[in-house]
Amino acid sequence: MKSSDTRWGSVIQWLHWLMALGILGNGVLGLVMVDMSRGMDKLNTYAIHKSIGLTVLALLILRVCWRMLDRAPRDEPMPRWQSLAAHATHGVLYLFMLALPLSGWIYNSANGNPLQWFKQFNLPALLDKNEDLAEIASEAHEILFWILIVVLIAHVGGALVHHWLERDNTLLRMLPFARLRARKTGENP
Ligand code: HEM
Ligand code: HEM
Repeated sequence: MKSSDTRWGSVIQWLHWLMALGILGNGVLGLVMVDMSRGMDKLNTYAIHKSIGLTVLALLILRVCWRMLDRAPRDEPMPRWQSLAAHATHGVLYLFMLALPLSGWIYNSANGNPLQWFKQFNLPALLDKNEDLAEIASEAHEILFWILIVVLIAHVGGALVHHWLERDNTLLRMLPFARLRARKTGENP
């Protein structure tokens, strides 16, 4: 379950892919739902969107806690600038994973709307109703999503370059069940 020197542990691997799916799927749902015509379907889709977003937030808390208790594998051999850029990107992605659901929650609160998690329990408003703030939070929520997509393009692009061009283990060590490639001779262990 824990990470080793050469690969991510299963907990981080599953959290990574589950959250990636949750965030991207919820982004698509968000874009679709805002254009739906008014009615029960739209209301239900909003409720599902908010619930998935809250789940992502809960998983983020779990992931950060686990990450603090676990080690991270050593970087695959790569130039220092690349390693710095990758770590900086990861930091930004963590910030967005927090800011996106939080801005949604702030928007929902400032709008004075109730909040439930999959019809199971209620969550409190983070602040009082405030129309000006609701407008800013709604804009922020959308802009944050599009910036996240731009950062993700760099993140995914980097992973694929390592996999297909560098032919190292950067992607494989994040994939559950994948077998790592043997290191090229001459590389540091
Ligand atoms: C993984 C987390 C989330 C992602 C990726 C995400 C993404 C999005 C996107 C792309 C939109 C469409 C924006 C637009 O075109 O106007 C949207 C709208 C919205 N989101 Fe989220 N969201 C997330 C979490 C949340 C959470 C946790 C809440 C509330 C608790 C929330 C509440 C809303 C609401 C109310 C709208 C509709 C805004 C409007 O009607 O203008 N979102 N979201
Ligand atoms: C919403 C989508 C995604 C988010 C928010 C995200 C976020 C992150 C973060 C924060 C890390 C650093 C892990 C840590 O240090 O704890 C990471 C690692 C990684 N991600 Fe993603 N990721 C996403 C999607 C993807 C996708 C689609 C790919 C596939 C190509 C990918 C490939 C990787 C790889 C290979 C690593 C490990 C990098 C290494 O070992 O140095 N990610 N991701």
